[in-house]
Amino acid sequence: MKKLFIDIEKLYTLKPAAVKQGRNVQEKDLGLITDAAILTEKGRILWVGKKSQAKKFGRVQRESLNAKVVLPALVDCHTHMVFAGNRKDEFELRNQGVSYQEIADNGGGILSTVKATRKATAAELLELAQEREKNYLKQGVATVEIKSGYGLNLRTEKKMLEVARSLKKLRVVTTFLGPHALPPEFKNTSEYIDETRKWLPMFKVLADRVDIFIEQGYFSQQEAKRFLDDAQSQGFDICAHTDQLNATGSSLFAAQLGAKSVDHCIRITDEEVLELAKRPTTAVLLPTSDFYIRVPYPPARRLIDAGVAVALATDFNPGSAPSQDINFTAILARLEMKMSLPETIVGLTLNASRALGLESEIGSVEVGKSADFVCFSDELGSLFYEVGYHPVQSLWKQSKRLFKNKK
Ligand code: NIG
Ligand code: FE
Repeated sequence: MKKLFIDIEKLYTLKPAAVKQGRNVQEKDLGLITDAAILTEKGRILWVGKKSQAKKFGRVQRESLNAKVVLPALVDCHTHMVFAGNRKDEFELRNQGVSYQEIADNGGGILSTVKATRKATAAELLELAQEREKNYLKQGVATVEIKSGYGLNLRTEKKMLEVARSLKKLRVVTTFLGPHALPPEFKNTSEYIDETRKWLPMFKVLADRVDIFIEQGYFSQQEAKRFLDDAQSQGFDICAHTDQLNATGSSLFAAQLGAKSVDHCIRITDEEVLELAKRPTTAVLLPTSDFYIRVPYPPARRLIDAGVAVALATDFNPGSAPSQDINFTAILARLEMKMSLPETIVGLTLNASRALGLESEIGSVEVGKSADFVCFSDELGSLFYEVGYHPVQSLWKQSKRLFKNKK
């Protein structure tokens, strides 16, 4: 049965932004339609336009959204949301002046979450992840990317991705992040990289993509190349954590290898920005982690002005970004990185979907795409402005309601 969604004061389709591949986005690229309607069938968008022109469709099921603003459903394209334990003590230590790196060097940091996650059963991890799933839905997020990387052994890496795959409501893209840190069982990163390369065929079903932390003290470019080349030749999409703590040129390096996204990009140089702009790679910026670990914010303006497609994500994890709040990420993007509201919106929708290789499926409200959208009870300018304010009325994925605000 066809379904006609009506009573939309303002629908921002993002279609013009999609035509520009999410680059150099202006307000007009949000593709505003007033008094809009969306016709769907079997979860796909068949038609988008003015409600007054929808009469021609005759007898269809009607669904009143009663919304001030409708946007494509939000996408959190970089998360570590399957984990056990927390790093509260580290937060206190960091506030006393101990750095993220010093904590990691003393066996804390990522490795402390590895300990807790290895210990947790799949059922325990799933329960935690389901709670986090609910937190996403009420914020208008219908798609998330979820990384492994707190197992660092085959058993726990698999366990994490199985848990990620078991979430029923969100659309989930899974990423194998075996090379996130050196596990205690290995003496050097080169040996561990070769081990993770052997695991790749076993992740063919569980993981959509692979990721690696290219950073001083973590994995080198040479090691990354061995791992990412193997992954790509086996059909995985690739991405990487790059230029987060030190300027190593890793963003451009990963883009040259064919990464769909390069994530963090804090230390990227001006020359590298210009080179990156010539490539299809999306830069994923993660200001919540920059806020928490008190490092500079990435050069969003330079990236965007050079023509790079920039996405935003929470980086939700217990260490560098203990926050699932997508609104907070967006506020930081606006306030600290001087991204405009249209750039911020595109960063959390269209460009986030591009980072995940899902741009023909989600990220804008266009004919042929999945009917994933979010309804707000307030105007566009009120979004991503007030900390803690989430005026989400309802969230829809494939024409089905995932969340409704009871207020
Ligand atoms: O994106 N940089 C490496 N990985 C995560 C941090 C994970 C953690 O601290 O547990 C990040 O910031
Ligand atoms: Fe991360």
